[in-house]
Amino acid sequence: MNIQILNKYNKPGPRYTSYPPATFFHDGANSESYQKMLVQSNSHQPENISLYIHIPFCRQLCHFCGCNTAGYPGGSLVEQYIDALIKEIHSVSQLIDTSRPLTQIHWGGGTPNAIHLSLVEKVMNELLAIYQPTPKAEIAMECNPAMLELEDIDQLAAMGFNRLSLGIQDFNDDVLKLVNRKPSKHPVEALVARMKANKMDGVNIDLIYGLPGQTPESFQKSIEKAISIGPDRLVTFSYAHVPWVKAAQKVLEKHGLPSTEDKLAMFELAYTLLTQNGYEAIGMDHYAKPHDELSIALKNKKLHRNFQGYCTRETTGQVYGFGATSIAQLQGGYYQNIKDTRKYIELINSTGFAVERGYELTTIDAIRRTVINEIMCNGLVEFDKLAADYEISIDELKEITGFSMERLAPYIQDNLLETDGKTLRLLENGFLVVRNIAMEFDPLLNKKTGMYSKTV
Ligand SMILES: C[S@@+](CC[C@H](N)C(=O)[O-])C[C@H]1O[C@@H](n2cnc3c(N)ncnc32)[C@H](O)[C@@H]1O
Ligand code: SF4
Repeated sequence: MNIQILNKYNKPGPRYTSYPPATFFHDGANSESYQKMLVQSNSHQPENISLYIHIPFCRQLCHFCGCNTAGYPGGSLVEQYIDALIKEIHSVSQLIDTSRPLTQIHWGGGTPNAIHLSLVEKVMNELLAIYQPTPKAEIAMECNPAMLELEDIDQLAAMGFNRLSLGIQDFNDDVLKLVNRKPSKHPVEALVARMKANKMDGVNIDLIYGLPGQTPESFQKSIEKAISIGPDRLVTFSYAHVPWVKAAQKVLEKHGLPSTEDKLAMFELAYTLLTQNGYEAIGMDHYAKPHDELSIALKNKKLHRNFQGYCTRETTGQVYGFGATSIAQLQGGYYQNIKDTRKYIELINSTGFAVERGYELTTIDAIRRTVINEIMCNGLVEFDKLAADYEISIDELKEITGFSMERLAPYIQDNLLETDGKTLRLLENGFLVVRNIAMEFDPLLNKKTGMYSKTV
């Protein structure tokens, strides 16, 4: 991997967890239009149902955090929030054909394991009374290991969880101190062993590079430690420094953030070490063992992606989101709930719904979304096949997505992609700049520049 190439393409751009990105959401999409779309979603593809549960609470706030969380409230707010979540599950589920297969439940946050696990169980019991998970459904939770007990893993397994993601961020305690984060309460090896003992088939570790105190040498140690623990999946997030959105991140500038060169070196080190030690690169910053279904899906060009990360076509459903700031990702559009926890509870208690903004897709948006997803996930766009799917000509498809040989020329020269005009294929190093390549097929992007973090 050539650091000069990484540097050349390192510019602000969306992560494309949705298309269009959430910066395009507006208040024209609301609880009323959401209810109409919920009904329509029953006849849209994919037929599968994914459920996303958002817990916006953390016991301690990390200064780098870009997630939607609000600290840990006193009084009975957490219990009130869980009751509201259950109400929302009921009002949304009334409009969904619940005989559709449920293939994914994802708990994210915030920190889902910051709340008492009896509250998690309460919600899971409601969900499982309404929906029927398929035998291979993925039931996952993002956990902060600072407060994860070994017994918690047994309890979560008993509730049906089969995938836990451990937010390690860095194994170096000095780095964690600088970002106001506590290390894992138990050795991560013991947590992983307990997951395996509970027959959980999915162990994921999250790391971040680009934090204060990190150097290529120190980050190498963290990667080596992660490799020795051997999770099925590993994510190395590029620290997204967006203090204009997350003011708390400003504090980190006082400690000094690593230089761009060091950040690129960390990215390159992670890529090299992981791919030389039994992991396959998935997309830009995800890695998986060859037996993992993500690696298999990538080989079969059946990888998919949503706000929760990469997934396979088999597990991917239209996503119904519950909780403050959660986003429903339906075939016809995106709907995001209000951010303020108290207002979310009030709205759910009074109306059963709490959508604040979103985006309803036109056919043109949907075509662009398909092309961008194919680039981001599978590194392959078959223009002739896609044009036939949408019953348009290849020329129309190219016009809609802003296809320009001139703009793709630098990527071709740098050996990052190849195209004969009918098919576009990312070459091995192309995935390292996959966000940039996706940006070349996003005509909406010109309307919102300078609001995103850098691609590496
Ligand atoms: C909701 S958190 C995971 C669960 C739990 N709250 C924790 O921190 O362990 C999701 C992940 O987002 C990543 N993340 C958070 N803020 C980020 C940022 N500013 N840039 C890049 N990644 C970030 C972290 O790796 C984190 O593990
Ligand atoms: S990174 Fe996780 S634990 Fe830290 S503040 Fe964000 S959501 Fe909470």
